[in-house]
This record gives sequence, structure tokens and C-alpha cells, in this order.
Amino acid sequence: MLTVEDLKNLQGKKVYVRVDFNVPQKDGVIRDNNRIVAALPTIRALTKQGARVILMSHLGKIKWKEPDPAKIEAMKKANDMAPVAKALQELVPETHVAFCPATRGAALQEAVAALKDGEILLVQNTRYEKGEEKNDPELAKEWASLADVFVMDAFGSAHRAHASTVGVPEAMKAEGKPVAVGYLMIKEVENLTRCVEVKDSDRPYVAILGGFKVSDKIKVIDSLLKKCDYVLIGGAMSYTFKKAMGMNVGNSPVEEDQLDYARKCIYEAKGRLILPTDAVVTDSFEPKEGRNIKVVSTIIERGGYIPDGFEGCDIGPETAEFYQSILAKAKMVFWNGPVGVFEQEDFQAGTKAICEAIRGLKGKAFTVCGGGDSASAVKQFGYKADFSHVSTGGGASLEMIENDGHLPGVDVLR
Ligand code: 3PG
Repeated sequence: MLTVEDLKNLQGKKVYVRVDFNVPQKDGVIRDNNRIVAALPTIRALTKQGARVILMSHLGKIKWKEPDPAKIEAMKKANDMAPVAKALQELVPETHVAFCPATRGAALQEAVAALKDGEILLVQNTRYEKGEEKNDPELAKEWASLADVFVMDAFGSAHRAHASTVGVPEAMKAEGKPVAVGYLMIKEVENLTRCVEVKDSDRPYVAILGGFKVSDKIKVIDSLLKKCDYVLIGGAMSYTFKKAMGMNVGNSPVEEDQLDYARKCIYEAKGRLILPTDAVVTDSFEPKEGRNIKVVSTIIERGGYIPDGFEGCDIGPETAEFYQSILAKAKMVFWNGPVGVFEQEDFQAGTKAICEAIRGLKGKAFTVCGGGDSASAVKQFGYKADFSHVSTGGGASLEMIENDGHLPGVDVLR
């Protein structure tokens, strides 16, 4: 694959860079600019060479199936890219960042034509175009015609075969234009490839999987069980596994249609799929004065269960210690999904215990946090620097694990 480093003589050239600026924001206030910061090395490498940089990204979701046009407009308004351009300008004071509110047509062409060497143009949310998620070839061709070179640096979107991620590089390749990967992509792909191409020296290889639904993680559980020595389960999905084993889980969320799958997994894993032995439970998920919070055993053989009226919200202290002891021996760790409702102080201990275990492995093991909510937790609790790699892509890093290192947005560049 061509990389941004291989691109030379860019003075005056128009470079289309697909970034992932899908940042958490509300009413124009960006809560976490991590993804913007992560794209800066590539952007700067291009502007320094005098390239005219055209940045494209999606932001949030526009549900085009919605029949009410007013609601579509409201979704567009809520996902306007203009505040992101402002945030980017503050991060690159050395050059000018223009914003183009149009996603196609003459207005977009004029905005590109107005770019001077070394300047940046951020284009409005790619999902303002209905054809983006359908990988519409006409749309891809139009965007491809804007530039001389394509650079993919949107790791977080590389699992989406959309017009801006796959259609454009396909069209540019067909026109004989160079397509390359940026610095963020290189780093992400290298680190996550290591999690799928496991070497003997990486063993024991331990995965921690949390999050809400088993159904979202079926493929990744299957893949990790093939690769890892242990898969530690936490989060709400552990209650589906516990129910599958016959335990009363009280009011905990359960996916009834996944019970057979969960039983199959437990059986086939032959002791390598590890489930919590205790849980922090509450009689009110909503934080309110006087709610009842306690720790209960979930060891079925010893009569453990979650009482009716209570739901599990975190792994218990015994599980945390047990998981820490397994992690202490690991040579490689992949973590996706918090093990408790870390947004609430009462249920943070389990996720923090996992972070502590990873901190203990610093310099001794290769540790990856696979983006999404677990990356937010790691950052919030101040453990980011303890990981070998914290991915900027939740869905993308999971698909990379599921598909043995393949992503549509990467494969198109090979
Ligand atoms: C993400 O935040 O995971 C990526 O930007 C992809 O967003 P999407 O799930 O809306 O396609």
C-alpha cells in the first residue's frame, strides 16, 4: 500500500483526505476532539508540502428512511459539520481552514477552486448526501473528480463501504490517480493486525469483552475464541450467558434469542470463556436517593443469583480480582466494551480494575483498547497512556478482528 510518506511533489495538488471527524457533539459543542487531533499528522504532512487539502467526513446519522422531510432537516441540522471546521482551525493556526456547506455541485467546485497551496477545506457532512451510504457511483465519481490524490485516514469509518470511503478511491484508481493511507490508518492497522496475527510470544492472549448485547458481538466472540487463550466477559451481555446457564438474573437485560448461541459458546470454549462470579446489583438503574446497591454471588454451583427486582450493573469485586489475576500473566490483551455502567460512579469499579490491570502490564505486554465506549472510559479514568494502543474506531476495530484484518476501506487501497 502507498502511504502518505510516499507522496511527493504535492505543491498545488488537490488531495482528498477521508478523515473520521464523527466526534461527539451537541448544539455545536464538541465534547471530545480526539479524532480530529488523531488526523493532524496526516493533514500537516500534506499542508507542509503545499497540497490543497480537501477533508471529507460523515458526522452522526441521517435516517433517510424517515418520511417526514422536516425531521430529515432536523437530523441534518443536528449533524452540521461547521463547528468541526472551527475546532480544526483552532488546532491548525498555521494555515487557513475553510468550510464548504455544499456537498456537491458548483458551490463545492468553487470552494475547491478557491483553495490556495497549503490550505484546508472541510466539506459538509458526507451523509447529507443520500447516496453516500449506498456507495452511489455517480456521487463517488463527482467527489473523485475534485482531487488529484486520495488519502484514507478515517480508520473509524474503514468498515463502511460508502461512497466517500470506498467509491472515491475506486473511481480515482480507475482514473490512474494515486491512492494512499495516512499516518493514523498506518498506526491503527499495524496495531490491530497484531491482534489477529497472533505469535507464540503473544501468549497468553487475553480478550475482555463487555458492552450491552451478545448479538452485536457474535462474530467477534467466535473470532476471539479461536485466537485467544481466555475471553473474559463483562457488561450487560454477561447476564445473557448466565441465564443461558440457568441462573436467575433478576431484572438484568437478557437477549432471549441469544441463549442458544450463548450455551453453544460456553460449551465449545471448553473453559476459555470466563464469566463473572459476582455482580454489583441495584434495584434502580436511575441514580436516585436511597436506591439499593449490593454485591451478590453469581456462582450458580453455589446457589448464586440476582434477586428479582435487581439488575446487574458491574462485575463484582471478586470477579475484578479474578480477572486481574488472569490479565497479570497476559502477553497480549484486546479489550472492547466496558464491564459495567461506567457512566455512573457506583458502577465504575470493575472497569477501573481492568484499567489498573492493564497499567500493571505496561512494558510487559502488548495491550489494545478497541475504541468505542471502552476507549471513552480509559480516557475518562486517565489510563490512556498505559495502553500500547487505544483505537479511534469502535466498530472498525471489531470488524478488523472479526474479518481477520480485512476492512473494505483498507482493502480498496491494497
Ligand atoms: C464510529 O463512530 O464508529 C464511526 O465514525 C462510524 O460511524 P457509523 O457507525 O455511524 O458509521
